Amino acid sequence: MKNIAVLASGRGSNLEAIIKNIENGTLQANLACVISDNKDARALQIARDHGFKAIWLDPGPKKTWLLPEFEENYVKTLQEHKVDLICLAGFMRIIKKPLLEAFKGRIINIHPALLPSFPGLDVQRKALEYGVKFSGCTVHFVNEDVDAGAIITQAAVPVLDEDTPEILSARILKEEHRIYTEAINLIVSGKYRIAGRRVIKTS
Ligand code: GRF
Repeated sequence: MKNIAVLASGRGSNLEAIIKNIENGTLQANLACVISDNKDARALQIARDHGFKAIWLDPGPKKTWLLPEFEENYVKTLQEHKVDLICLAGFMRIIKKPLLEAFKGRIINIHPALLPSFPGLDVQRKALEYGVKFSGCTVHFVNEDVDAGAIITQAAVPVLDEDTPEILSARILKEEHRIYTEAINLIVSGKYRIAGRRVIKTS
């Protein structure tokens, strides 16, 4: 069984869904550790409550990314835990060279919009304000550009007239919890190939 790590900065509902699916056998992976840049992340508490290793790693002085020496420490910790696949789930830092090089093609992220529309932050509100009639979520590989790597899977939800950003976010989140497990299962199974930007399932 492959080892995964979840990196999360906050609430941890995607982590919670991943843990639930590991516990009920839907997700065939071993959660080697949960790492956060935020000591108070609910995600760390969720991991501990379920008996998984929860680690806070000093993110250093920058707000939105990690200086190389701090990111190297993330690499070291992930390597020590023999992590095969890094799953970002609300990790609020841009991933740079140390992690990208050490875990090439082995970092994935979940984003609450249908990429390439609405990359970045606060995207449920942006989708609503833009007036799109469908939004959703995307699991994608992480590369040097934000929310720009090859798409593994997506799910669409309708945007309804009476939606607020909170209501739309909740509708999308429900799908996030479902598709992240599907995507992780696919990647750890190795039953895919990449053609250009396309992630194609193989048997
Ligand atoms: C999710 O909406 C995810 O798509 C985005 O950050 C949020 C994290 O939520 N990247 P949670 O911490 O998993 O509840």
